[in-house]
Amino acid sequence: MKLFSSVNDVTDINQLVADALALKQNPYAHQHLGKNRTLGLIFLNPSLRTRLSTQKAAMNLGMNVMVMNMDKEGWALELNDGVVMNGTTVEHIREAAGVMGQYVDILGVRSFPGLKDRELDYSEEIFNKFVKYCGIPVVSLESATRHPLQSLADLVTITELKTRPWPKVVLTWAPHVKPLPQAVPNSFAEWMCKAEVDFVIAHPPGYELCTDFTQGATITHNQQEALLDADFIYVKNWSAYEPYGKVTGGYEDWMLTNASLTETNNAKVMHCLPVRRDLELSAEILDGPSSVVVHEAGNRVWAAQAVLKKMLESLT
Ligand code: CP
Repeated sequence: MKLFSSVNDVTDINQLVADALALKQNPYAHQHLGKNRTLGLIFLNPSLRTRLSTQKAAMNLGMNVMVMNMDKEGWALELNDGVVMNGTTVEHIREAAGVMGQYVDILGVRSFPGLKDRELDYSEEIFNKFVKYCGIPVVSLESATRHPLQSLADLVTITELKTRPWPKVVLTWAPHVKPLPQAVPNSFAEWMCKAEVDFVIAHPPGYELCTDFTQGATITHNQQEALLDADFIYVKNWSAYEPYGKVTGGYEDWMLTNASLTETNNAKVMHCLPVRRDLELSAEILDGPSSVVVHEAGNRVWAAQAVLKKMLESLT
């Protein structure tokens, strides 16, 4: 594997989940693969889980890891070609990414969307330029439109905790105070559409996701109906795709409480984290037996390790 940017880079998602679960049982069995190999993790935005879990995964595989917070520690990057760099940007991405490719064997990149220009964000300009100019395998640590390591960890969690074949999985929009990217729900949707689950998306009118990611999903504006008999509920806020990056306000009643779970199939509640308590998801759920959010975050290690192992195996 030379690139992990979406579910489309995976030949067999069931096998990748099985690989992750095998690594969870035996984390240090493949340390020879990572010996004298280095993972570079480049963050243009904040992170807790992605940063620590990917670093841990690499260490389990015997790799060295270098982390750089480009937003705080790096030179301001120029993305455009053909410009005279007499403004605020100091280094062109051509040189910056190319140099990173000299120091590490695999590069991880996190780059969030600006949420101002949909065409620009959905072109994945920054992530794709890192891929183009670094010349080495690249793993997405969350890009403008997708968060595939999170989605793989989510599928690992569902596979581990399901109590019946083809569980019902509901992705539900939740309230928030800020406009958030669509990367997590886009990615979760496209992974669930390829997984062996009955997948439903519930959101208020105006929060439709880009249809490129939701082919095969049942989509409804009725949250209560969607939750009926659900095995897993994936809670997430996202801003509108059209008008892009906007939030309309209201819909506070979309925040789940214990009462919301009464007609589910003893549903487990998931969230990628970080989560705003009693705004996006009630504290009573987060602190109760239905929540699997910490377990889910733990699985980020095994998801990252399965992907890094595949990349190490592809290095000559
Ligand atoms: N879920 C997730 O990606 O968490 P971080 O933003 O903390 O990495």
